Amino acid sequence: MNKTGWKLVLTVLLVALFGVSGAIQADLFRARDPGVRGGPAGAGGPIPGLSANESVMFTAGLAEFAEEDAVDEGIGPRFNFVSCAGCHEQPAVGGTSPAVNPLFRVNDPADLGFTGNVIPSFITRNGPIREERFQFNHDRSRDGGVHALFVITGHPDAAGCNIRQEDFERQVRNRNIVFRIPSPTFGTGLIEQISESAILANLSASSSSKSALGISGRVNRNGNDGTITRFGWKAQNKSLLLFSGEAYNVEMGITNELFQQERDETPSCQCAGLPNDVTPSVNQIPAIVGFANFQRFLAPPTPSLNTPGGSASIGRGRQQFANTGCTLCHTPTLTTATTTVAALSNKAANLFSDLALHQMGPGLADDILQGAARGDEFRTAPLWGVGQRIFFLHDGRTDDLLEAIQAHRSSGNLRFGPSEANAVIDRFNRLDERDKQDLLNFLRSL
Ligand code: HEC
Ligand code: HEC
Repeated sequence: MNKTGWKLVLTVLLVALFGVSGAIQADLFRARDPGVRGGPAGAGGPIPGLSANESVMFTAGLAEFAEEDAVDEGIGPRFNFVSCAGCHEQPAVGGTSPAVNPLFRVNDPADLGFTGNVIPSFITRNGPIREERFQFNHDRSRDGGVHALFVITGHPDAAGCNIRQEDFERQVRNRNIVFRIPSPTFGTGLIEQISESAILANLSASSSSKSALGISGRVNRNGNDGTITRFGWKAQNKSLLLFSGEAYNVEMGITNELFQQERDETPSCQCAGLPNDVTPSVNQIPAIVGFANFQRFLAPPTPSLNTPGGSASIGRGRQQFANTGCTLCHTPTLTTATTTVAALSNKAANLFSDLALHQMGPGLADDILQGAARGDEFRTAPLWGVGQRIFFLHDGRTDDLLEAIQAHRSSGNLRFGPSEANAVIDRFNRLDERDKQDLLNFLRSL
């Protein structure tokens, strides 16, 4: 071989060794969810600026929220769990579904002792806590309501009660069951104080960018007074007090002054006076007001400035999040109105939500109607605290942020239109893998 020939061989070899391997390395880099952020919870404490009185109310409310109730305090006849904190626990009291599913404690004879129950297949030890709704009744009319998982039958304190747990596996076979996971309550006191005009002005802002990408959105409203509702996966609920009264009855089976009737009125299964929880005296508050106080004064999550991936990556990710169009639904900041409670007055709430409903397509649709919300509409999930969340989307279908983002995308079918997020997710998918990683790091810093 002549000199040129050797040169050629050498070049080919070098390219093969370094050039191609360099190219392969670049190709192999795939953005991935860094996972639940470690370190301090940065959540669970009171919002700064509370008065001495409000601090006392926060602490007392926290104790109430964490307390496990018993059958003779009104748990059941049907219920999902025995305390608010049991479901709202990660990464601190007030949050959401923890790593180890507490629902397995319910029928454990050595623990909560409700032995008349089986744990259905869709509740798993390391999976999310799930609340169940049935879409239709037997006669095909709409149901849509929550069906509590457990009964008190079989518990030593419920002698004489013999109602049976519902047949959840049959609903699974009939594909008539949908799930919701607990949403975190950090910062919800700020969410409660955002004025209707602020929500509406934000919704109509950037209208040309939104319509160019197919994004619209609308608010949910209370059927009685017509004001905007904002809590829950479909923005179906008006206030923290209302949510607390409802959760006490629906999740725990404890009737109260907002929800006076038991959801199962079988006489032999009423083991406490009705309603179960009332205002004790002129000087004392009922439990539901305690729950609301705790959540109202609960600080929003503290984002990390440098974890994961370092502050530069997080900063670039914040920019990608905006450039891609995520912020057109996930509004970074809304400001609270002037309110009586100084700690909540005129404050920036960095919630990353417009508190509005969006059509998310058949892929996410649960076919549940709530207020104005149709079967494919969901409230833009607030993303503050997402860095320390384990499970994502209304039904907790994934623990991977990338999958949660991809699930935003779905084409329409005969029943539901295409997702409003489709164009934004296409833009996300076209990002360089490094840019995607920055965006994911940013989300996990929240
Ligand atoms: C069995 C688990 C479970 C228990 C117990 C429970 N919750 Fe929840 N919580 C949920 C689920 C599921 C949701 C989402 C419901 C929805 O949007 O339909 C939720 C949502 C909420 C929200 C709405 C937060 C937001 O982001 O809008 C509030 C407030 C709340 N719960 C308060 C309470 C209070 C107060 C208690 C105790 C009385 C309680 N919860 C007990 C599962 C639970
Ligand atoms: C059209 C409005 C819209 C756009 C655009 C949008 N989202 Fe969402 N996002 C939602 C809604 C609505 C949900 C709740 C869906 C559900 O639970 O079924 C959600 C949920 C999420 C969740 C899960 C949060 C949780 O509490 O489980 C993440 C993470 C998220 N979005 C990130 C993003 C990112 C990143 C982008 C941009 C690439 C984006 N979203 C664009 C509306 C939107």
